[in-house]
Amino acid sequence: MNIAIFCSGNGTNLQAIIDSQKKGFIKADIKLVVSDTAGCFALERAKKADIKTLVVEKKNFSSQKDFEGAILKKLKEEKIGLIVLAGYMRLLSPDFIKEYKNKILNIHPSLLPSFKGTHGIKEAFLYGVKITGPTVHFVTEDMDAGPIILQSAVAVMEDDTEETFAGAIHKEEHKIYPRAIQLFVEGKLKIEGRKVKII
Ligand code: GRF
Repeated sequence: MNIAIFCSGNGTNLQAIIDSQKKGFIKADIKLVVSDTAGCFALERAKKADIKTLVVEKKNFSSQKDFEGAILKKLKEEKIGLIVLAGYMRLLSPDFIKEYKNKILNIHPSLLPSFKGTHGIKEAFLYGVKITGPTVHFVTEDMDAGPIILQSAVAVMEDDTEETFAGAIHKEEHKIYPRAIQLFVEGKLKIEGRKVKII
């Protein structure tokens, strides 16, 4: 199976996925890293791992359709069977999601459905939760609301700062995202309504 990973920033999840694939834990090819942000560090990581990169910046397109069309063209060329969103800071349109129905995964840094949106870590920390952690889910039209594949609980420590707390969540992300991807690759995820059965 050919995988494309979409990133906008640092790419620590991308790195964890690359490392897992190299170790043979993910039995699929990472064909392409797509970014909407030229110069982001995730692109450096991809280049270092000899993975093709594609930068498609929204500002160069007059419509969402054209912008996503440029990405879709490349995904078809590379025969991509799974899209992995790893810190891709842009919402995909319903049309795009339809093209890859049930073939797009995302990781979110809180236990969904709590703390959806772009500031999941900060909001959970400021709220004072005692337990939180990342969620890997299928992407549907509603943001951070698709069927949940894996979650992992992280306890908030009394002396945690927002930074140490974020670090603990990222560490857990780097474990569950490769695991969820491998389950998908092995055909072990069965969506039944809102639920994902691991078969
Ligand atoms: C992660 O916290 C992920 O949960 C969220 O974006 C962040 C990406 O971090 N969707 P990185 O670029 O993988 O380091």
